[in-house]
Amino acid sequence: MALERTLSIIKPDATRSNITGQINARLGAAGLRIIAQKRLRMTRAQAEAFYEVHKDQPFYDSLCRFMSSGPVMVQVLEGENAIAKNREVMGATDPAEAAPGTIRKDFGKSIEANSVHGSDSVETAKREIAFFFSPVEIVG
Ligand code: CMP
Repeated sequence: MALERTLSIIKPDATRSNITGQINARLGAAGLRIIAQKRLRMTRAQAEAFYEVHKDQPFYDSLCRFMSSGPVMVQVLEGENAIAKNREVMGATDPAEAAPGTIRKDFGKSIEANSVHGSDSVETAKREIAFFFSPVEIVG
């Protein structure tokens, strides 16, 4: 087991529904510690840069519009196997396919408005954390 850090984003559908506290409680119950957190509204350009890896996907334009449509909570989570653990707690990308008891199953509205994002690898986590946080903002 490795102590890891991962980037989490509570998406605009979830901040709109005022369920950030419920999501944070689930992260904590899974052993994920929130070691940095801030609420912000991404600009369209920031959303495009963050999701650049998807720029050739048909959903890219709509995704970037959605992610800059309202406030998000960006977070750094720390814990044993935090990357895989967070993905387990989030559930499958499409809420319709997510397992019972996962965040996306219980709160997600669609594959786009699926309440949360989580890094998918150690390398991605490093890049995504650095995208939003400077080292002094992360207190483990
Ligand atoms: P996320 O983990 O934030 O990473 C990329 C996002 O694109 C994904 O969650 C979904 O919300 C969104 N998305 C929209 N349509 C699709 C799709 N068809 N396949 C995968 N992701 C999609």
